[in-house]
Amino acid sequence: MASLQEQIQQFEQEILAFQPANAAELENYRIRFLGAKGILKQLFAEMKNVPGDQRKEAGLTLNSFRQLAEEKYESFKDLAEAAASKGPAIDYSLPGTPLPTGTRHPLRVVENKIISIFERIGFSVATGPEIEDDWHNFTSLNMPHDHPARDMQDTFYVSSNPDWVLRTHTSSAQARILETQPLPIRVICPGRVYRNETISARAHCFFHQCEGLYVDKNVSFADLKQTLYYFVTEMFGEHTKVRFRPSYFPFTEPSAEMDISCTVCGGSGCNLCKHSGWVEILGCGMVHPNMLRNFGIDPEVYTGFAFGMGVERITQVKYQVNDLRLYSQNDVRFLKQFQGI
Ligand code: PHE
Repeated sequence: MASLQEQIQQFEQEILAFQPANAAELENYRIRFLGAKGILKQLFAEMKNVPGDQRKEAGLTLNSFRQLAEEKYESFKDLAEAAASKGPAIDYSLPGTPLPTGTRHPLRVVENKIISIFERIGFSVATGPEIEDDWHNFTSLNMPHDHPARDMQDTFYVSSNPDWVLRTHTSSAQARILETQPLPIRVICPGRVYRNETISARAHCFFHQCEGLYVDKNVSFADLKQTLYYFVTEMFGEHTKVRFRPSYFPFTEPSAEMDISCTVCGGSGCNLCKHSGWVEILGCGMVHPNMLRNFGIDPEVYTGFAFGMGVERITQVKYQVNDLRLYSQNDVRFLKQFQGI
């Protein structure tokens, strides 16, 4: 029978070569070498047969063999622990789980486009509060308390203060600019506005506007037309046609609504343009002299133009979104379609 030394040498070779592929192989190793009836136990039991003069040396060899066997097991302990926790062994070299990134909201994308188009011709951006007082939302804009035009905009009032409303248009921000900034003024005012409308595919109780205002000496209706024509070609493409229809707003005189040739059918008639070939996109006009006077500006010296558009409407015409409610439902399937536009 092989001596204790020889046996140990053989087992040492086996241990050095051992590479467990999984937790089960490691467990077999543990049972074979370190278990209650394992090889180590047997070898230690054999010590009693070793002659007395060799016992010390055999003891040293056996102890270092035990160390080797235990260290090998320890070095693969991760494997055993991962198996014990029932999870798979962690492979740190695998790529991480990607976190899905969001997309910009289509209204924000379109608002940014509108802003950048007007910034290129010298307009700056101004914002104002969404809870507004009567003066800035109505009275200063040539709509005194009993003015019938107040009914054009179904207003939410703030119950704690009868003078406060949720602004019905961002013209209120323009009023604040006229109040505080020196002339000439050239601003656009993007922002959220509120109207007491029943929610449907075509109306919502809140939406977004971008209104523009230019006040200086010698500003004419021709400037207004050219500015808006520039906007339309930048936003919808250079083959887009425009037309102005006379309209009414209390803060502008004369007032107009502007249509563009239908972006879907090009004018031949479809659902978007209700078979007219034209879609309305904004209201505009020359700033009413009363409004200029309200801010201490002499209408004999200064003139101005103003326009206001709905961001939802521009987005609808540009990307054929046919239901206003989609914008605020947070349906990721809808929002994702605007990735990268
Ligand atoms: N404030 C108007 C609205 O909300 C839009 C508008 C702005 C019209 C400026 C003319 C001039 O409907």
